[in-house]
Amino acid sequence: MIQCPRGTRDFLPDELEKRRFYENKLRHTARTFGFREVETPIFEDAELFILRSGPNVLKELYAFEDKGGRQIALRPEMTAPVVRMFVNNMSNEPKPIKVFYFGQCFRYERPQSGRYREFFQFGAEIIGSATPETDAEAIALAYAMIGQIGVKNYRIRIGHIGVLRQRIADAGVPSDRTAEVLQKLDKKLYDEARPLMQDMGVDDEDIDDIFSLTETVGGVEVLDRVPGEAGDWLRQVVAYLDVMGIKDLEIDLGVVRGLDYYTGMVFEAEAPALGAEKQICGGGSYTLSELFGGERVFSTGFAIGFDRILLALEKEGSSYDPEGIDAYVLSVTDDMRVKAAEIAAMLRADGVSADVDIMGRKMAKALKFASSARARYAVIVGAKEMDQGAVTLRDMSTGEQELVSVDSLADRIRG
Ligand code: HAM
Repeated sequence: MIQCPRGTRDFLPDELEKRRFYENKLRHTARTFGFREVETPIFEDAELFILRSGPNVLKELYAFEDKGGRQIALRPEMTAPVVRMFVNNMSNEPKPIKVFYFGQCFRYERPQSGRYREFFQFGAEIIGSATPETDAEAIALAYAMIGQIGVKNYRIRIGHIGVLRQRIADAGVPSDRTAEVLQKLDKKLYDEARPLMQDMGVDDEDIDDIFSLTETVGGVEVLDRVPGEAGDWLRQVVAYLDVMGIKDLEIDLGVVRGLDYYTGMVFEAEAPALGAEKQICGGGSYTLSELFGGERVFSTGFAIGFDRILLALEKEGSSYDPEGIDAYVLSVTDDMRVKAAEIAAMLRADGVSADVDIMGRKMAKALKFASSARARYAVIVGAKEMDQGAVTLRDMSTGEQELVSVDSLADRIRG
């Protein structure tokens, strides 16, 4: 039996209905913040992602040569594509540009619970603005989205990559090797970071100081200890979030983020219920447009791991009941099947969701099917009732039946 490829999933109707329900909640929340939806291709020139993250990224890409000899990659994320789209088509539009997106991304990772090779991101980008309000707006939207979805137990940690970048540069790490150091610090691999920096000529005192910076964690009061512009910036972001009702923030200067295009504020959200793959959202401020042939433009954005946020909900015990349909139409006898089809068509035209027995089942079996289809009502079409222009309407939850005229059927079901 052929199965779907490793790290990918099929979504059956109940699951997909649930996913659409939550996707639409997220869409709605993004729109209430003044963001508009965009879509970019699922594959791009591999160059787009290599420019962003260096050739090492090829290891985690689904990349291939197409029939025209072009190097193509399935997108591993959507920030680079959205910025490319901005450079190509939107650079003259009034700023800021606030867009959101939902779609699948592909990473060649080792699959496990919460980690897939095809997964879905819901993200947002604010392009062309560099103010503390911009960062606060992005964080506030992420908060609102996670809250609206209904995840209860999660935490958002906010940091500023500028603090660490500056400290690393001051300690003498050459700028072309910053990424290497940040990668180690991101994973808190101090045993590997120390010899790496020692090789670059950084002395131990500076190294200890850098390590203690990445361990600067706590409530907003730790911001008093954050030096320079980055500290001022974060204090303003926090003040904006405070008036937006977002309090009890966690500051963590060790938030480095795996991707290396961030320049300023960075943040991550995690849901502890998820165990190892607990990160449900990540983002920050960055510049990318200049890499793709545009002017340098500051942006802030984030992406929520849609699959993970649904897993977190499930782990917290919340469930989704599929909607089902309004009516299931069935006939008592074979000679009423055409009439049943006609009544189903009438209901549908009137905006009532209706299914109809197309297999000529006996009534008991058809009713059983109606219940598995989660129909609220069964419309039973019999010759005797039709003579009076009526059908039997059965409430599937109570089993109560009543005679309803065909003319008022749609209103009765809707009512
Ligand atoms: P990221 O942290 O790489 O950031 O991904 C965002 C989220 O996608 C993660 O927090 C995680 O929830 C989810 N995710 C990542 N990989 C997988 C996977 N293999 N399976 C399931 N979920 C996964 C970005 O992608 C940036 N583009 C975010 C951003 C937008 N920064 C600025 N704007």
